[in-house]
Amino acid sequence: MKGDRKLSYVFPRNFKISAPRITRGEGIFLYDEEGNAYLDAAAGALSANIGYGVKEVAEAIARQTAAVPFAHGFTWDTSVTEEAASMIVELAPPGMDRVWFVNSGSEAMEAAIKMARQYYLERDGLGSVKHLVIGRQNSYHGSSLGTLAIGGSVPRRKLFLPMLHDHPKIETHYCYRCPYGLERPACGTRCAYDLEKTIRRIGAQYIAAFVAEPIVGSTVGALVPPDDYWPVVRDICSRNDILLIADEVMTGCGRTGSNFSVDHWKTVPDLVAAAKGLAASYYPAGAVLVSSFIAEAFGKGSGFFAHSHTFNGMPAASAAIVAVLRYLKEHGLVENAAKQGRLVENELAPAIARAPLVGEIRGKGLMWGIELVADKQSKAPFPAATAAANRLKAICQRRGMTVYPGKGMIDGVLGDNIMIGPPLTVTEEQVRRIFSILGDSLEELAETLA
Ligand SMILES: Cc1ncc(COP(=O)(O)O)c(C=O)c1O
Repeated sequence: MKGDRKLSYVFPRNFKISAPRITRGEGIFLYDEEGNAYLDAAAGALSANIGYGVKEVAEAIARQTAAVPFAHGFTWDTSVTEEAASMIVELAPPGMDRVWFVNSGSEAMEAAIKMARQYYLERDGLGSVKHLVIGRQNSYHGSSLGTLAIGGSVPRRKLFLPMLHDHPKIETHYCYRCPYGLERPACGTRCAYDLEKTIRRIGAQYIAAFVAEPIVGSTVGALVPPDDYWPVVRDICSRNDILLIADEVMTGCGRTGSNFSVDHWKTVPDLVAAAKGLAASYYPAGAVLVSSFIAEAFGKGSGFFAHSHTFNGMPAASAAIVAVLRYLKEHGLVENAAKQGRLVENELAPAIARAPLVGEIRGKGLMWGIELVADKQSKAPFPAATAAANRLKAICQRRGMTVYPGKGMIDGVLGDNIMIGPPLTVTEEQVRRIFSILGDSLEELAETLA
């Protein structure tokens, strides 16, 4: 019954929170059942990349669903899935000409690491011991046990630690709090070169892949690497015969102002995981973009990737991808993300950086992170119990705007950030409004905490 919030059969994300009930979306706004409007400055989870209420996408999905929603990929092929793959390849870095479809970002990353392992078995025979995946502290690659094992997000890992395979981790380029206590440029990008040290210590013969988010998302809040980072890790992986996997689940499909974020550094990974922006939250869809040499090894070898899910590449999901990517292209949304990103970088971010609680604001395109601190000078974080990021989220929401909070990036416990990542359809006026609400909310948070 409408308004009866006591009775629910849904196992909620959080039993302690009563969330507003959303009934519709239009553009960058969500509306609840009481008619309140929320400017979605987080695009859901940086996933509703073309905004809400795009009729042609909904109609394309409906048409395909009416024709045939599902045709099991083990037995059938469909032209709409072929079309989706060709549109993705058109966006992809050079040399990536095969697409493995999945239903989420976690599934894309799980498939990517399993594909990396199997690639070496196909190439070198079943005796290959290449199985480890080097990841980084402060990273998130998904919620399955396989992807949690390669990620470094302490809050998400700690309850399940005894169930995780132990994969090695290197430090992240967290320059604001350099893990080595160094400063740029004197540091010589040690965090990138340490990859090679780790490989030597373990032995490249045991390592299948190195995996990283080109711009780190939710665990730190839009952490942009130094310009030489990706070229350096690309070179280290190539020289050591290790696959480079870019997790572009959040950063891909135009979010940061280029098709894929690795394009900013002209780096070509061996495998790329994409999801959120691919069907832009109109359908659960993800994909692994595969370099031709990897696909060839499978083709010449067993011919069969020993991994699948029932709904891989289902036609209705493919129809959503085709319609979303067409919309992205026709409306110049990748270019718009770059343009609005320049406005933030040159004007709005420097203004927000002056707020007393802001330690750092960082990002690219339409993916921005704001790290909150109790003391600007010393960079002292808030006590975890303050829950500063969640409080800021609540204040923003009361003011009619949603943001994406994160915590624990300093040591797994301390550290608060929020991310701003609106739909890529956002206008200059709307971007200014987002940063104006954010500025007012930061002031209110400062008053509350004083
Ligand atoms: C970088 C990254 N990888 C993987 C995932 C997992 O994606 P999903 O939630 O669709 O499983 C996320 C989700 O936030 C992500 O940001």
